[in-house]
Amino acid sequence: MKIFVLYFSGGGNTQLVAHHLFNRLKQMGHDVRIRFARKGISLGDVPEFDGLVVGSPVYAYSPAQTLMEVIEQSMPTVSDKPSFIFLTYGGLVGNAHIELANALKNRGFKIVGLEEFLMADTLFLMLLFGLTKPTKWLAELPNRSIPKRLSQFPEKVVRSLRDGTEIELKYRRYSQKLTDFIAQKFHRFKPKLIENFRADERCDLCGVCVAVCPRKNIEICNGQVIWGVDCELCLRCYTLCPRDAIQFGKWTRHVIKYKPYIP
Ligand SMILES: Cc1cc2nc3c(=O)[nH]c(=O)nc-3n(C[C@H](O)[C@H](O)[C@H](O)COP(=O)(O)O)c2cc1C
Ligand code: SF4
Ligand code: SF4
Repeated sequence: MKIFVLYFSGGGNTQLVAHHLFNRLKQMGHDVRIRFARKGISLGDVPEFDGLVVGSPVYAYSPAQTLMEVIEQSMPTVSDKPSFIFLTYGGLVGNAHIELANALKNRGFKIVGLEEFLMADTLFLMLLFGLTKPTKWLAELPNRSIPKRLSQFPEKVVRSLRDGTEIELKYRRYSQKLTDFIAQKFHRFKPKLIENFRADERCDLCGVCVAVCPRKNIEICNGQVIWGVDCELCLRCYTLCPRDAIQFGKWTRHVIKYKPYIP
């Protein structure tokens, strides 16, 4: 089969799942392409593929904003092409799966499979748990079940894409009020929160953060790294800085940084 994998990832969890899938599908003999969803990418070749797999983290009970924009602005319209979606999340998905599915359905895809992977919460790890080894170990605990779930994932994706039967996605009514409330607060305080990014004295102006930001939100100007306001707080810059020079307010100075792994 010709399979296209489109994903977004800030902290690396979704990237880990997407690349595991990509590598395994290739080993199984499929013709696979993988693409990271960043602002302005072209997806004109998607219709040439037999099926699409889309992976997103859950941020404030929604799929990643950049991925949603890419689907809305760059995804060609198709007719009934099978699409499998997967999410990685840190505790509560809310109705992110419905949002992502609707965006794809608007482009003419039918949803033939869904998988949700509970993984370490990258936001909590940055803000709360990075201080000591035991708390970090605890926070990373969800990743311990990942190898087993990943081992069955590629076969499930291929089965669902081949079968092509549309699945019914369940709306999670029970959590809607709570998640709406928290998401509203998150979006209200986000402009204040993103002001916390800064580069410390370890920064050597290498430009990696500028290159990896999926929203082109970082600039180096007059020897300083400057964050703009178009940030979705994905933490990609923070995670990928090769000198661990990016700090988030006063919280992260002594934090042991989380790097996704398969135990
Ligand atoms: C800004 C932000 C918001 C988040 N919101 C949620 C959330 O609403 N529900 C949840 O279960 N996890 C939430 N998380 C945790 C992530 O969904 C989880 O760690 C995910 O695997 C991160 O994927 P990534 O490393 O590919 O970015 C959030 C993380 C961040 C950075
Ligand atoms: S990636 Fe880190 S070291 Fe490189 S310019 Fe950005 S903050 Fe500085
Ligand atoms: S500035 Fe950093 S946290 Fe914000 S969107 Fe870019 S990479 Fe993500």
